[in-house]
Amino acid sequence: SFYNALIPEQRYLAYLSGLKMTLLISAFAVLLGIAIGTLVAVIKVSRKNSNNFLLKLGAVLCNIYTTVIRGTPAMLQVLLIYNIVFTSPNTNRVVVGAVCFGINSGAYVAEIIRAGIESIPKGQMEAGRSLGLNYVQTMRVIILPQAVKNILPALGNELIVMVKETSVISVIAVNDLMKMAQYIGSRTWDTITPLVIAGIIYLLITILLTKLQGMLERRLSQGDRH
Ligand code: ARG
Repeated sequence: SFYNALIPEQRYLAYLSGLKMTLLISAFAVLLGIAIGTLVAVIKVSRKNSNNFLLKLGAVLCNIYTTVIRGTPAMLQVLLIYNIVFTSPNTNRVVVGAVCFGINSGAYVAEIIRAGIESIPKGQMEAGRSLGLNYVQTMRVIILPQAVKNILPALGNELIVMVKETSVISVIAVNDLMKMAQYIGSRTWDTITPLVIAGIIYLLITILLTKLQGMLERRLSQGDRH
């Protein structure tokens, strides 16, 4: 019929598949972000301890990357990359969108990891070096295990940001939770209820993730003397 209302079960399944898509894209984006961010952070931090030409060049490129990504809207990045790689109607928008958000997240994760490493007092590096460890060994055995306590909770935060931020992916018609809410609204002629329901779902997910993050934070700081 023209008035194409969805039955409750269809609506329920639509929210569910939207939520699954949102969580999938967010998780993938943060994982790709961690891979990119770790590489970028390591290059930026090592650059300060070396005059290697390739490292210098790499650090310049990394700075351009983090500056451009953090200085432009995620929505613009998604639309721009999608339009550049769009070659046919078969272009996989889910993959394109997920990779875009991975690239976006990487710039933020790079700063999280860099800050985490630089929060460790200089004396720790000097102590490792004076024990006869080289730079990489000191990083791996002494600096990074301590930095992880600052980095992991911040990465939890990044996941929470991504769950909300990936709602922007609906501009390239990926059926995430946001898009599904709009779809249900258009089919039922009630736009407000689906938006409120999607909002409640986002809220429940972020509250849950915040709780998990708090638990992780407490666990990681258990051994600390303050
Ligand atoms: N909404 C902001 C933007 O479009 C924040 C993006 C945050 N991304 C992140 N990975 N933390 O630029």
